[in-house]
Formats: sequence, structure tokens, C-alpha cells
Amino acid sequence: MPDHLFLNISGSSIFDAASPQAVRIRQLMIEFIIAATAILLLVAVLTTYISVKYRSKRQQEEPKQIIGNRTLELWMVGVPLALVTLFFFRSMATMNAVLPDPAGQHPDVIITGHQWFWEAVYPGTTVSTANEIHLPVGKKLLLQLDAADVIHDWWVPALGGKMDMIPGRNNYLWVTIDRPGIYEGACSEFCGQQHAWMRIRVVAQLPPDYAQWLNREAAAARMPQDALARSGAALFMESTCGSCHRVRGTTAAGIAGPDLTHFGSRITMLTGMLENDSANLNHWLTDPQQVKPGAHMPRFIFAKDSIRSLTTYLEQLK
Ligand code: CUA
Repeated sequence: MPDHLFLNISGSSIFDAASPQAVRIRQLMIEFIIAATAILLLVAVLTTYISVKYRSKRQQEEPKQIIGNRTLELWMVGVPLALVTLFFFRSMATMNAVLPDPAGQHPDVIITGHQWFWEAVYPGTTVSTANEIHLPVGKKLLLQLDAADVIHDWWVPALGGKMDMIPGRNNYLWVTIDRPGIYEGACSEFCGQQHAWMRIRVVAQLPPDYAQWLNREAAAARMPQDALARSGAALFMESTCGSCHRVRGTTAAGIAGPDLTHFGSRITMLTGMLENDSANLNHWLTDPQQVKPGAHMPRFIFAKDSIRSLTTYLEQLK
């Protein structure tokens, strides 16, 4: 596959914090960097100075033997102990500020890591989507994070902390997004062959835009608009695509793969790997294993025309 098909992923940086949680973490990070740099410089300068100043001037002579130095030893234990204690409490304070106990609160979004996509369910609505996770700005949101198969790890650097997603366990993360935009992240725990192509896109929107998006997503899938798409829809239902994928409003109700109800409205496909367009969709349906080796999408042998009808159907699922 030619390189230009891959999306140019810019990523986001912890230094470009876009939430109060990320600001706290960045602050702690800067304090650590300052302390570590000061220690590095002190040790480097002292080591150089001492090794030059006290180097042996005559060969074959035993250096002067010193046994113990109480004052120096107290300093050498005391300073690291004080620093470790200081940073222990700084880290605790940051964790308490960033990760308050979600006790009894309902999550705003439930995100589940799968090999290799992110499923997002919005409790209290019928919305279920994948990979492009829309969130409103200015509201303190509770994300519930879990995993369907192996351990994954959620991390959108500009929005704050990293959180493991562990099968059979719910973890939580708070996030208050300051400004609209697309924030990129990636799975940060090796989870198999396509771990590197498990990208995250958080689409942060102003509340009215978000409400509008949620409304549209809650609707059942659009009916196919023309004969080609109709034959694609029929093929989709016949070819057991629906055992793994859900298209709300049709008989396709699978949950093993990404929900495709509004697939056509997503900018990217394959968890941020490719732009969502007909050429890429065509490649993917022709030979999934060539596009994304190891992906749990089997290769169906479709005729060329059938792929065109499937592509047309999927693109109309706006
Ligand atoms: Cu999911 Cu790495």
C-alpha cells in the first residue's frame, strides 16, 4: 500500500495542555524536569571537578584511605530522601486533583478498547460509535474505560492522564476540555499486532454542536439512497457482515466489530489509519489482511461490482 494513503498523524502534546487535568500533570512534569536537570548538572560538574582535581599525580602510589565521613553521609542520604518525599506528596496531590473518586457517579461516555478499535457508548442515549469520540467542551466529564479482550491504554496527551483499560474491570478518568478541536492520542499499552494503529481522535465540540451530533448519531441508519447502495445493503446483510457489525435500524446487530450506523460521517477509518474514502474502503474490503495485517476482519471474496455496491452503501451511512 502506498505511503501517501496513511493519515498524517500530528499527535498532541502534554505541553499543549487543553484541560485543567492536563495542566496539573504538565506542572508536575515540569517540576520533575527541573529537579532531575539540577541533579544531573550537579553530579556531572562535581564528577568532572573531582576527577580532575584529585587525580593521582604519581604512578604506583596508593591513594589516601578514608574511613567514613558522618556529615557527608548524612547529606547524601538526607537530600535524596527529602526530594523523594517532596515529590511523593506532589504526585499524591496531583493524582487527587486529577482523579477524584467517581463514587456512584454515572459516566458520560463508556469507552471500550478492542483489538483494534475504540468503542464509545453514550449512556442515556442510543448512541454507539467507534474511534472518533465526540465530547462537549467546558463540562467535567467522567469517562469509563474498559477492555473487551486484552489490556489497552487510553492516552490523549493534551487532555490529561493515561489510563489502563483492563478486561473485567472499570477504570475512570475525568476530563474537562477547554477548547474545541480534534485531539489525537494512541493506545499506550502493547495489545498485539496492530497496536500502533490504534489511534484515538477526540472531537471536542461546543455544547450546541455536540448536542446536534448526539442527536444525529442517535438516529437509526439512513436507508440506502439508490439502486447500487440498495444492492450493497442486501449484500451486507447476506454476507454475515452483521454478525460482527451493528447498523442500527437494520438486522445487523453484531458487536464484535465497530458500530457502522453512521460510518459515512467519520473522517477516518481503521482506527485513524486511513482517510475514510471510497478508494481506501475499496482496498480494505478487497483484502483486509493486506491493509491491516492481523485485523479480525476476515477476507470475503467479493466480485469487483459487489465491492463497489458495498462501498456505496457504507458511504451513505451518514
Ligand atoms: Cu490497544 Cu495497544
